[in-house]
Amino acid sequence: MPLGSKRVSMINYAIRDLVNYAKKLENEGRKIIYLNIGDPALFFETPAHIREALAKAATEGNSHYAPSEGIPKLREAICRKEREVNGVNGLTPDDVLVTAGVSEGIQLVLPSIADAGDEILIPDPSYPPYVSYSILSGINPKTYRCIEEEGWRPDIDDIRSKIGEKVRAIVLINPNNPSGAVYSEKTIREIIHVAGEHNVPVISDEIYDQIVYDGNFKSTAALSDDVPVIGLNGLSKTYLITGWRLGYIYFHDPEGVLDSVKEGIKKMTRMRLSVNTPAQVAGVAALNGSKEHIKELVLSLRERRDYSLKRLNEFTDVYCEKPRGAFYIFPKLGEKWGRDDEFVVELLKSKGVLLVSGSGFGERGKGHVRIVFLPPIEVLEEAFNKIEEFISQKMIS
Ligand SMILES: Cc1ncc(COP(=O)(O)O)c(C=O)c1O
Repeated sequence: MPLGSKRVSMINYAIRDLVNYAKKLENEGRKIIYLNIGDPALFFETPAHIREALAKAATEGNSHYAPSEGIPKLREAICRKEREVNGVNGLTPDDVLVTAGVSEGIQLVLPSIADAGDEILIPDPSYPPYVSYSILSGINPKTYRCIEEEGWRPDIDDIRSKIGEKVRAIVLINPNNPSGAVYSEKTIREIIHVAGEHNVPVISDEIYDQIVYDGNFKSTAALSDDVPVIGLNGLSKTYLITGWRLGYIYFHDPEGVLDSVKEGIKKMTRMRLSVNTPAQVAGVAALNGSKEHIKELVLSLRERRDYSLKRLNEFTDVYCEKPRGAFYIFPKLGEKWGRDDEFVVELLKSKGVLLVSGSGFGERGKGHVRIVFLPPIEVLEEAFNKIEEFISQKMIS
């Protein structure tokens, strides 16, 4: 009998699934354009003051473990950032836990809020770790619909119809990966209202909070009075330090109903000892320092978003909602293009462009592909030319 747990066999991460195959093609001499991973640090330079802070932190000691909850100065800087940037008032350092990226935040929060057999409501389509970490904890990930034709907004009626006795939290990803949606204040308030009616918290992943092109981003915690919100955020994307692994969890919990969840997560952070100490020291410099690079980042990405949308809209048989935040575009393929997973493999083999199949993000992602628009326009142009050639060859055959 083969060894290995069933739970692990049920998880997947489509975003990196084909990377080894693409690398193999590259080693054989093929040119590959990678539009699969949302890593802005590959295309934009980390600001000098942040890099210098890391180098200084590493050379001036800081090789020891940090406190499990995170260093006090970083927890303070996070409170200030959330207050000043997102209007989240009332947070104290005790409400904040530093994590090794939002990825670790997800991994810590889900098993602390729900037991095996409980349910968590997750958007469909969604960033895959929410489903995977639920499965690993024996939690049943129940998905709610996001409506593509309405800018991928969460379907409140669907949330209402799925929220029952066993649901322990509603997950919101805003701005969204993979759709690029930025939710209206009305939608967020409706979700807070439903959560309040059922006495469950909202888990709000806001890692793209400062990467917004149109409309107004509103933080869930800033809109909630008494409904508890567990915020997940991090420095990977906005501060261009994906590889340093720095994120955080915060609790907006005016009535203290999440106290035991918070204590549970603190216990788990002790079990994993500490987050990278020099990175935390540099994180303070990032959060308290100049934000000029964010303006430039958003300006460049807006151009890349507009270009990608224009190209896709020129293709026949494609439907594409305009992404308003993050750096992903999520077109729906026409029926003639075949299955999304097969399309992605064939495109890679034939043209050397790597995308992610939409089905990797959930049932409602089927028939879509996710394209990362981080590279410079010349690279995007080459990639879209290749995709266009591939589609026209497919239409003919
Ligand atoms: C919605 C969302 N949450 C969390 C993450 C993980 O980010 P990190 O672990 O680098 O903080 C990502 C990365 O792509 C993401 O898109």
